[in-house]
Amino acid sequence: MERLIPLLEPYLSLSLSTTTTTTTTTDPQFVDIGSGDGRVCVTVSKHFTCHSLGIDVTDLCTNRAKQLSVEEKTSHLTTFLTLDATALKLDSDECGPLKCARIVYLFVFPSLLKEIKKILKEVMSVNEGLRVVTQNYHFEDDEGEIEAEVEVEDDGFKGLKIWKRLY
Ligand SMILES: C[S@@+](CC[C@H](N)C(=O)[O-])C[C@H]1O[C@@H](n2cnc3c(N)ncnc32)[C@H](O)[C@@H]1O
Repeated sequence: MERLIPLLEPYLSLSLSTTTTTTTTTDPQFVDIGSGDGRVCVTVSKHFTCHSLGIDVTDLCTNRAKQLSVEEKTSHLTTFLTLDATALKLDSDECGPLKCARIVYLFVFPSLLKEIKKILKEVMSVNEGLRVVTQNYHFEDDEGEIEAEVEVEDDGFKGLKIWKRLY
């Protein structure tokens, strides 16, 4: 997390003050697909005072994340939904938040990255300001345009990449 927060600074630090007329103040600026116990959304919302959305395929994770957000007093800024990200469709209500988000964060296995790349590409085509952040597992370098990254270290951390575009 100590590597993620500085990377997000340019994208989220002014997020509430740059909300446009097409978005509302409760639209999430940060979306974690595969949000697990919610620690990333909770930390990001707390640090940047921004709205975040966590999507996870299991109720167990969603419920734990909601509990964490209450414990950490961020429940007014965080939303957690049980959804299968591989079933997201561009025109569905579930996809709405991704169309106005600034960051979609992914710390998921390569098989899931592969399955959701098409919908991410579609969302990026209608939300040009959106950046996709991958942690540890990444798209191949020729699958997109990288805007920024944090180098791999030798403690099991395999880097962070910010994707400006996916091909
Ligand atoms: C490695 S954890 C990442 C947790 C969190 N994002 C973090 O960085 O601490 C990956 C999460 O992806 C979720 N996941 C797996 N397949 C998914 C799918 N099809 N749709 C949504 N979430 C999924 C898992 O339930 C798991 O909680």
